[in-house]
Amino acid sequence: MAEVNLLRALPQGKRNVQARETAKTEDHIRISREYGEMYFDGPREYGYGGYRYDGRWQPVARDIIAHFGLKPGDRVLDVGCAKGFLVKDLVAEGIDAYGIDVSKYALMHCEPEVVGRLQIGSCDDLPFPDGSFDAVLAINTIHNLDRDGCVRALREIERLAPGKGFVQVDSYMTAAQKEIFESWVLTARFHDYPDGWVVVFDEAGYTGDWYWTIIG
Ligand SMILES: C[S@@+](CC[C@H](N)C(=O)[O-])C[C@H]1O[C@@H](n2cnc3c(N)ncnc32)[C@H](O)[C@@H]1O
Repeated sequence: MAEVNLLRALPQGKRNVQARETAKTEDHIRISREYGEMYFDGPREYGYGGYRYDGRWQPVARDIIAHFGLKPGDRVLDVGCAKGFLVKDLVAEGIDAYGIDVSKYALMHCEPEVVGRLQIGSCDDLPFPDGSFDAVLAINTIHNLDRDGCVRALREIERLAPGKGFVQVDSYMTAAQKEIFESWVLTARFHDYPDGWVVVFDEAGYTGDWYWTIIG
C-alpha cells in the first residue's frame, strides 16, 4: 500500500472559497447531497457548476494503467464514476472498465461510449463477487459517507480487488488548510488529516493505495 498521486496530470481547478463561504447555507448542502442536476450542472454554489467531458482524464487513465500494470481486457471498477468520464478513457485504452454511482442524474447523462457499463449503487455495498476486478478506483467518493460508511466502503473495495484499490479522499495538512476546506465543503461527511485517514484504512483492512484532495 502506498501514497501515490494518480491525479497529478489533472489541471488544478480554481476555487473561489470566499464566495462559497459567504453563499453556503444548509440548503446548498442538502441539495448538493442529492447528487442531481443542481450538483453536477447547476450553479457553482451547489457543486461542480457544470460537469462536462473535456478529455482531462485521458492522461490520468494512462497513469492508472501504468501504476497497476494493467493489460488490455483487464477489469477496472470506478466507484463514484459520475458521468463515466474516466470509464470512457480507460475503455479507450483497451481496459474493460465499469462504473457505479449513487446518482441517477449522472448515469442518465453519461457519455454515450459507456452506456451499459455504469450502474446505480453505493460504495459501501458493491454488488460484485470477491476478487472480480483487477483494480478498483474511488476518487473523491467514499468521504461522502460518515466514518463507519468509509470503513464499509474500504472493505468493499478491498474485497473486490485485494491490494489493488486506489482511493482519493478529502484531507488537509494544516489547521489553515482545514479551515479553508470546511468553508468549501458541501458533500463530504467524513474528512481528516492523513494520520486519521490511515487509521481508517487500517481499521478496514484496506491494503490498496491512496491520495489526498487538499484545497489551498
Ligand atoms: C466529487 S464527485 C467525483 C466524481 C468522479 N469520481 C470524479 O473524480 O470526477 C463524487 C461522486 O460520488 C458519488 N457518490 C456520492 N455518494 C456515493 C455513494 N454512497 N456511493 C457511490 N457514489 C457516491 C456522487 O454522485 C458523485 O458522482
